[in-house]
Amino acid sequence: MNDYRYDNRTIQGFILSAMAWGVVGILIGLLISVQLWAPAANFAPYLTYGRLRPAHTNGLALGLGGGAIFGLCLYIVMRLSGRPLLFPRLARAQLWLFNVTIAAAVLSLLAGYTQSNEYAELEWPLDLAVVVLWVMFAANVFGTIARRREPQMYVALWYVIGTVIAVAILWIVNNLSIPAGLTKSYHLFSGVNSANVEWWYGHNIVGFFFTTPILAMFYYFLPKSTGLPIFSHRLSILSFWSLVFGYLWTGAHHLVYSPLPDWLQTLGIVFTLFLIAPSWGSVVNGYYTVGADWSKMRSNYLTKFFVIGITFYGLQTVQGPTQALRVVSQLVHFTDWVPGHVHMGTMGWVTMVVTGSIYYVIPRIHGTTIYSERIADVHFWLVLVGQLLFSVTMWITGIQQGAMWKATNADGTLKYTFVETLAKNYPYWHTRTLAGLVFAVGMLFFVYNVLMTIRKGRALEGSPGSSPAAAPVA
Ligand code: HEM
Ligand code: HEM
Repeated sequence: MNDYRYDNRTIQGFILSAMAWGVVGILIGLLISVQLWAPAANFAPYLTYGRLRPAHTNGLALGLGGGAIFGLCLYIVMRLSGRPLLFPRLARAQLWLFNVTIAAAVLSLLAGYTQSNEYAELEWPLDLAVVVLWVMFAANVFGTIARRREPQMYVALWYVIGTVIAVAILWIVNNLSIPAGLTKSYHLFSGVNSANVEWWYGHNIVGFFFTTPILAMFYYFLPKSTGLPIFSHRLSILSFWSLVFGYLWTGAHHLVYSPLPDWLQTLGIVFTLFLIAPSWGSVVNGYYTVGADWSKMRSNYLTKFFVIGITFYGLQTVQGPTQALRVVSQLVHFTDWVPGHVHMGTMGWVTMVVTGSIYYVIPRIHGTTIYSERIADVHFWLVLVGQLLFSVTMWITGIQQGAMWKATNADGTLKYTFVETLAKNYPYWHTRTLAGLVFAVGMLFFVYNVLMTIRKGRALEGSPGSSPAAAPVA
């Protein structure tokens, strides 16, 4: 039976939208991975690599990530506040505006409209639409928390609040630009200042879009789905405040060996190293939580999504600071190592936790159980294998690329031409497409399982014995 006390319809709308944009983004990812080794796959001017790559990153970050953040964070806020959303109609309007904005974003990127700043490609009218969406989201987050019936604020709420505030600041500052018509604008900052602001934003948008909201989901859905209380609330709060404090100083690690002043690069690197501590605070907290009963890994199909998810977060947050070191950066920067890092985070950490959380939420919204745990297991293994193959392949080719670019002959001339290094990438790029295919099939199993669970729930709603009282607390 559908339980409307908690605005579940809107939550489900965001989740389904996130899944739909996720499928679009992943299919585009597959196509651009092919375009890198088969130029003939650049079918038309609006379907070339240069246009599809930002459609892939924006479609997945804003579409999959944004939809999941809106849906799952609002779900968490309502449960932890013990009340429905303060502005339910606003949330429904936000759902529609969200889908229109993402569709317009993808189409405008394919049409070639771009501000040319990575992860901030959208032109100013769409930037403004995102600001409106974020204000709508913030109104419900802060309004609902302010009127909460639960006196305590569990750490997941702090992570949601941190996300709302930080993304608002980052988005507005980096998108400050001077419009030159409806479809063109210029960054307010120029030269090195532009790069500095862009990467202050670029690193933190990853942090506050792909880390803090995902940690909110992790801290809420791991104890919920395993029935094990979080190991240490004190550690969770300590990790939260130190993560938020540390993150905002680290952007300069993207500009190592650039014209940015040396002291700024060093400051960025030092804070980057510091980030290991709060990140691992959450990793350790997660392990000790499940450590109370490791048999949950076998008996509860959801546990492995969260445990493997936090494991990749742990690996990611050791790899990230290592990459920031000058000695490592000079080898891996500009190489395929970086997409290897990126996709361990996005495919391993973000997708694992988001899909695990959706598996938890959808059956509860409909007062039923998951359609098939077996399909969820198949989905889990395909996504895991696909992601590992993707990342490991990119790390190997990245080191090879870096080493070949730097290799010199005895007389100091370069040993390899750029094209020679490129040709060496081909076998790895083929393997990446295969890895992406395995991952994509895994995600299609996930989508099927969720849709069939909704169908099962709707069939139950229509059955004679169903009543609102029969619904579990959603
Ligand atoms: C403590 C945590 C982390 C640190 C310190 C860190 C650090 C870094 C560094 C230094 C780079 C630049 C590599 C280079 O270009 O030479 C980088 C790139 C990147 N990282 Fe991380 N990382 C962390 C966690 C994550 C997570 C959890 C994700 C995603 C879920 C992520 C996504 C990315 C992305 C998307 C880029 C590519 C940016 C670009 O377009 O150049 N990182 N990271
Ligand atoms: C079938 C799965 C996927 C495939 C085949 C794929 C493929 C690719 C390719 C080929 C690139 C360009 C790499 C380059 O610049 O050389 C890329 C970049 C990127 N992808 Fe994916 N991707 C997939 C899934 C995902 C997912 C699920 C996410 C996010 C949730 C994601 C986020 C990103 C980001 C942020 C970048 C930019 C990385 C950077 O600048 O270094 N991808 N992807």
